[in-house]
Amino acid sequence: MTSQQLIENENKETEQDSLTSQTIDSEVALDTGNNSFSSASWLAYFQTNKMARVDIHFPGEIAVPQAVRTPLLKSLQRFQIGETGEGKHLKKYASTINDSAYEECIDLFIKEEQFHARVLAQMIQTMDGNLLSWHWSEFAFVILRRMLGLKTEIFILLIAEIIGKCFYKVCSDNLEDRLLSAAFSLIVLDEIGHLEFHCSFMSKQMLQFPLWVRRAVNFCWSALFFAACTVFIADHRGTLKALNVSPQAFLEDCIKTFQRAAVRTLSI
Ligand SMILES: [Fe+2]
Ligand SMILES: [Fe+2]
Repeated sequence: MTSQQLIENENKETEQDSLTSQTIDSEVALDTGNNSFSSASWLAYFQTNKMARVDIHFPGEIAVPQAVRTPLLKSLQRFQIGETGEGKHLKKYASTINDSAYEECIDLFIKEEQFHARVLAQMIQTMDGNLLSWHWSEFAFVILRRMLGLKTEIFILLIAEIIGKCFYKVCSDNLEDRLLSAAFSLIVLDEIGHLEFHCSFMSKQMLQFPLWVRRAVNFCWSALFFAACTVFIADHRGTLKALNVSPQAFLEDCIKTFQRAAVRTLSI
């Protein structure tokens, strides 16, 4: 699968949902009808994405009004830390799968996240902001991810991917600066791929468990997701307000994306 196919898939579903073709509505990229996972296909996807990637350079000044800039900077600083990691734990867990193509996928996935971190860093510095070296939300997220094995790590990671995708989409849709908006759109497209990649992998992993176990996992995962969403919205409400997005609308978008991911991942 390539980014183009993800976009085409998205456009097809988007038409069904009567949304505009310009809208990046990433959850529609989750193909609920296909439970197969091929690490070789995903490796080809990540390699194609890497070859097609263009570096983003911002001019000296980004046209963002001060009322938006202050809360936006605060949000981007936190996301920038989250996108920065080396993914040592994830790589270590991935090595237990005994699938070298999957390990390469994880490596390229982490490199895409690091690319996002560099883009966000540029945005922050162009808006005269500083990069953070630590934030409690990232610390809590890392601790949660490392509590158990690979599956737990990816379940927690998916929560962050879903919230991140929805937040970047809000930025892409509502920021007037065209370059900034386009950069967020590119990140959203990458996040669509990440969601599909992790959901597809987990779908195969979880099929070995009986339905009642998958339902129990869904219950716990949903509870954690709602808790994470609530904390996120409280923490980033200033940015959402500055971008004219209500907490309810943002929460609804997150829930819609999560529900599709849950159906896809747990076959429930
Ligand atoms: Fe990212
Ligand atoms: Fe991601």
